[in-house]
Amino acid sequence: MRTLPTLILLGAIALGGAGAQPAAPRPLTMVVDADQGRDTISRHLYGHFAEHLGRGIYDGIWIRRGSEWRIRDDVVQALRAIRVPNLRWPGGCFADYYQWKDGIGPRAERPTIVNNNWGGVTEDNGVGTHEFMELVGRLDTEPFIVGNVGSGTVREMWQWWEYVNHPGPGPMADLRRRNGRAEPWNVRFWGVGNESWGCGGGMRPEYYADVYKRFASFLPAYGDVRPFRIAAGPPGDNYHWTEVMMREAAPMIDGLDLHHYLLTGSWAKKGSATNFTEAEWAELMQKAAFFDELLTRHSTIMDRYDPAKRVWLIVGEWGTWHEGEPGSNPGFLYQQNSLRDAVAAALSLDIFNRHADRVRMANIAQTVNVLQAMILTRGEQMILTPTYHVFEFYTVHHDAVLLPTRFDAGRYERGGWSAPAVSATASRDRAGRIHLTMTNVDPTQPRTVAATIRGQRVSAVAGGRILTAEQMGAHNTFEQPNAVRPAPFAGATLAGETLTVRLPPKSIVVLELR
Ligand code: AHR
Repeated sequence: MRTLPTLILLGAIALGGAGAQPAAPRPLTMVVDADQGRDTISRHLYGHFAEHLGRGIYDGIWIRRGSEWRIRDDVVQALRAIRVPNLRWPGGCFADYYQWKDGIGPRAERPTIVNNNWGGVTEDNGVGTHEFMELVGRLDTEPFIVGNVGSGTVREMWQWWEYVNHPGPGPMADLRRRNGRAEPWNVRFWGVGNESWGCGGGMRPEYYADVYKRFASFLPAYGDVRPFRIAAGPPGDNYHWTEVMMREAAPMIDGLDLHHYLLTGSWAKKGSATNFTEAEWAELMQKAAFFDELLTRHSTIMDRYDPAKRVWLIVGEWGTWHEGEPGSNPGFLYQQNSLRDAVAAALSLDIFNRHADRVRMANIAQTVNVLQAMILTRGEQMILTPTYHVFEFYTVHHDAVLLPTRFDAGRYERGGWSAPAVSATASRDRAGRIHLTMTNVDPTQPRTVAATIRGQRVSAVAGGRILTAEQMGAHNTFEQPNAVRPAPFAGATLAGETLTVRLPPKSIVVLELR
């Protein structure tokens, strides 16, 4: 139960009164055309990624119980609450090393594998196809399996496809049955290699396009189960990769998997997850805002080859990448997650939503204990990160209709970096409810937004919640697991068709309008 002082504190935060703030900048305006939605925000934009990396799989989602690896119930329960729509596995760079046949059958007989990309640790293959599919079932999500192109054969890949999908009789379906699973799992999302320009084989797009077509040719449909073939996409702003892949292979591609990470400093010297300056806050926001240009330019190329927008642009790996936590194995990519990460996630997700016509899937990296994780674990303990709460807020947009917004978003600038001051998504769900998520990117100034809701009468703000904190680097720890958590929000008022929202600095708000 919350104590009185806690409630007073939450109330103060909710009203935007936490700490003395300088005078507010000019109010911003926004128009929401509530009757003009065209594109659906695919729930798959809220997908996740779980690689065999550090403590993501082993000692993360799975915990050792005696000689067995068991799925953690608390992790499952937390992930179910954010309605994970799809889960990408087993990598990442690991995918192009992975030998799937070593991960099936009696666990004691499975060969080990060295994770040469990540920390050089030796895994016991205790989590393989059956264990992953058990997780998929418990999360009620869709699997997105990435096959091995870099060091695997076409035959190995089609055999894996046949193993998970063929109804039988047949050699792979029979093997699956002998391993305890009678029915096929009907996996449709299938990655043909990972980062084939980099750790997945260092290929040129001209070469990979041919390799891709060869591998993708051997993924047959079984009844209603058709492969949704996902090609390795470009690294960030490599527009040439997209051009070549679309020119050479578009008819055989269902999704093109772009990867883009957000970091401060450089790859050689990345900034800290929790100990940063305001200029570094602004730097990360500018990096997140760059998604708009990135998605626009890749989409423009794709439009030339695929004007009907059949091929999904997928952001199959994204998120913040900071220096690992002090004392952790640098190859394990274990980082803390602050309010700054949450704001960067909200800004990124709003951009994905706005590109809903072409961008239909995204997978934040990575679910537990790796990079911008939803959950951190230590032994039996588990904490939710600020980014987790953003994903929970944004469940209102899953498969909802994107409502066009015209927006004077203002500008936030610091230390030579800049980003929109306010970011937002408006959507209408199947029940006709309008939801607005709004983020004040500015960590020092409150912002007031006057939003005009046109085309549908709204009579009440039916609910509001906010995620914010006093400090830019506020984060949850095992000692203080609720330092950053949602609170009720009372800073939105409706007068006629005008909704006025007073956003405290560095805050994310979700509102329901009826
Ligand atoms: O997510 C961590 C790594 O980043 C993945 O293994 C790789 O695909 C990417 O470069």
